[in-house]
Amino acid sequence: MATQAEQRYSILAVDDNRNALEIIKRILFRSGYEVITSEGVPDAVKILDKHRIDLVITDLKMPKHSGFDLIRYVSENFYDTAVIMITGYPSIEGAVEAIKMGADDFLAKPYTDDELMSVVRQSLERLETQRSAQNTLELEAYFGIVGSSKPMKKVFKLIAKAATMTANVLISGESGTGKELVARAIHYNSPRSSAAFVPVNCAAIPDSLVESELFGHEKGAFTGANATRTGFFEVAAGGTVFLDEIGDASQSLQAKLLRVMQNKEIIKVGSNQVVKVDTRIVAATNKDLLDLVNRKLFREDLYYRIDVIDIPIPPLRMRSQDVPLLTQHITAQLCEETGGEPMFFSDRAIKAMTAYSWPGNVRELENLIQKLSVTVDNNRVVIADLPRPMRFSIDHKIGLHRSLAAVENEHIQNVLASLGGNKTQAAKILKIDRKTLREKLKKIDSDN
Ligand SMILES: Nc1ncnc2c1ncn2[C@@H]1O[C@H](COP(=O)(O)OP(=O)(O)OP(=O)(O)O)[C@@H](O)[C@H]1O
Ligand SMILES: [Mg+2]
Repeated sequence: MATQAEQRYSILAVDDNRNALEIIKRILFRSGYEVITSEGVPDAVKILDKHRIDLVITDLKMPKHSGFDLIRYVSENFYDTAVIMITGYPSIEGAVEAIKMGADDFLAKPYTDDELMSVVRQSLERLETQRSAQNTLELEAYFGIVGSSKPMKKVFKLIAKAATMTANVLISGESGTGKELVARAIHYNSPRSSAAFVPVNCAAIPDSLVESELFGHEKGAFTGANATRTGFFEVAAGGTVFLDEIGDASQSLQAKLLRVMQNKEIIKVGSNQVVKVDTRIVAATNKDLLDLVNRKLFREDLYYRIDVIDIPIPPLRMRSQDVPLLTQHITAQLCEETGGEPMFFSDRAIKAMTAYSWPGNVRELENLIQKLSVTVDNNRVVIADLPRPMRFSIDHKIGLHRSLAAVENEHIQNVLASLGGNKTQAAKILKIDRKTLREKLKKIDSDN
């Protein structure tokens, strides 16, 4: 079928008999498929990890490793690669066993060119159906926030609760965990949703402009005030002001914010008219606000006004089970934006991504997927396409003849690599103190 071949499916044929391989290769190649051949299971595994393979055709009886081993490997590691088993011993049990093991079809020797082609086409058609089904899989999302892990379910509950209340909210979490997304979800899920949601970056307002930015100014209020300006709080009247990076607010900004919260009124710069404001405040921080309070860097009175409803968002590494779902969501989103073909991730790639610690959280995952969409051929992401720290976390899992010390060393090095060498963070994740970490690293160094 020309349409299938036009898509350039990659097929890996595995047989210890070189002649048989040549025949398969010729038949498939003639039909326009890309064909890679391999004479044994270990070599086939290597090829699978490096190339994007749509279909594996494997002989059953081979010296050392049988076709069953390969079928099991493929079905455990590549959810969208089809497998056809070929055997010279056509037995029902063998066929049943192969299907149970994850093979998609079965071909008995001797077979004709047409028989081979028909089984190949059927398998690829099934694969295509399976792929489009995956695409339309229902996502577990709450106002665009994806997650099915326990910690995220808790966040969803808090959002729902916060949306029905008018109390101020403090969202805390590491950079890239989705704080702004949560703030928007609260607003758009609340009775205020028809009024404005106004994000204010507290770290970016120069002291000289604090009042004018927050409360607005009258024309001619100061040099350069050429026109009347509406402040953030007025724009957000009846709606929500999102005070992002509140931990970075200057002392003068803190003082002004406290005043609005206490009095619920503003005075435009250059005016003496007091205006009542009804604005809900949702703030976010990636810093430990209480720690800033203790260090006298953040006003305690302001802290207690903001931190009424507390929504902590856990870092992605604490909810790694969401990684596959997020990957799917972000991939689909990207696809919609660019109109490109959807990307598929091999199971091993997904496993490696799930095991990775994501110091940049969901934003880091977004950036990775964006990068992959440019660099990856055929829209199929295999483990070899991933950045080294991610590959590292899974590359060596296969080796079962390693000592505990070797596994520990490797884990320490992986964690460190994933954090760009940050020893303080690594020690925190490993739950050991920095001194112990230093000693362990010294030992690793001297052993190598
Ligand atoms: N659970 C999620 N589901 C879907 N997308 C998410 C999720 N969490 C974060 N994102 C996406 O990741 C990116 C970063 O999220 P966001 O900007 O909300 O993070 P943040 O916590 O505000 O980060 P920062 O502290 O750096 O400002 C955004 O593009 C957002 O859409
Ligand atoms: Mg943000």
